[in-house]
Amino acid sequence: MLIFGIETSCDETAAAIIKDGREVISNVVASQIKTHQAFGGVVPEVAAREHLDAINVVINETFEQAKINHGISPKDIDAFASTVGPGLVGCLLVGLNAAKTLSLVYNKPYIGINHLQGHVCANFLETDLTPPFICLLVSGGHTQVIKVEDYDKQEIIASTIDDATGEVYDKAARLMGLPYPGGIKLDKLAQTGNPKAFKLPNAKVGENEFSFSGLKTAVLRLTQQFRPEDMPINDICASFQETITSTLINKTKKLADKFNIKTIVLSGGVAANSELRKKLFALQNEGYKTFAPQMKFCTDNAAMVASFAYFNPIKTNSPLTLEAFSRA
Ligand code: KG4
Ligand code: ZN
Repeated sequence: MLIFGIETSCDETAAAIIKDGREVISNVVASQIKTHQAFGGVVPEVAAREHLDAINVVINETFEQAKINHGISPKDIDAFASTVGPGLVGCLLVGLNAAKTLSLVYNKPYIGINHLQGHVCANFLETDLTPPFICLLVSGGHTQVIKVEDYDKQEIIASTIDDATGEVYDKAARLMGLPYPGGIKLDKLAQTGNPKAFKLPNAKVGENEFSFSGLKTAVLRLTQQFRPEDMPINDICASFQETITSTLINKTKKLADKFNIKTIVLSGGVAANSELRKKLFALQNEGYKTFAPQMKFCTDNAAMVASFAYFNPIKTNSPLTLEAFSRA
């Protein structure tokens, strides 16, 4: 089964064709990061307009790759899927209407996808991962631990009560004067810093909760102690990274143990983080099976959207009246 997926929930215009939920036939991502850098964050109206400019080019390129590399043409596609939420509504509408239009033109089903469930499915791309597993989903907007009992059975068993992981990364990076999106740059600087240089707080919250606002405030207080030119930025980055990644991995491991599930996977943009991946893979020494998506499938992409559309129980039509929604 060939599914054409589209993703436009935030600042990436993406399309992909996936065979049977796992095999990547084509995958195209156009990033808007350069545009939003000037503003220090994503400007929703600007993002929506950029999606409009990019969507047809991205769709054409996706079909082109499929034709050249696999001899697959648009009429071979079995269904068209797009993210319907959560995300920026003006942005979501662009991908949603493009996918609905393609489904009408080629007379094939349209499938609306939840972006977060898509992120989880990034782990199925080019792997042999099978449920059950526990997934730590860490993105710019969400932090959740999800129990995946079967392909079509995802249940949230823990989430953040304040900031999302990617959001804290980006805010901490900003406090240190790093340009948007700071998470990836913070990760890079942390790799040459001392993770024990500064003791930062771990929130005392329930086993199914995360809280990062205290950590954010602690980074603010710490950065205020230094003049910008004297700031031990690599050590602050490393200490921050050590604190947040150990909290995330320890809690996820405890939840996996609670449900007696021995496979743990990562997903979402922060799954690209070097220390988080290192700590996850180290769990193999304790008898866990671990997976993390390839780097290009961590941040927003449409391959994960098409994968979830395949594994989604509602493989039939979503109604063409299906609307976009902003919050999970
Ligand atoms: O999943 P994603 O592309 O978009 C959302 O659905 O939110 O995640 C984007 C987030 C941003 O906050 C970005 O700074 C963060 O993922 N991110 C990272 C790294 N790469 C991306 N955070 C920490 N370390 C990284 N290497
Ligand atoms: Zn995302």
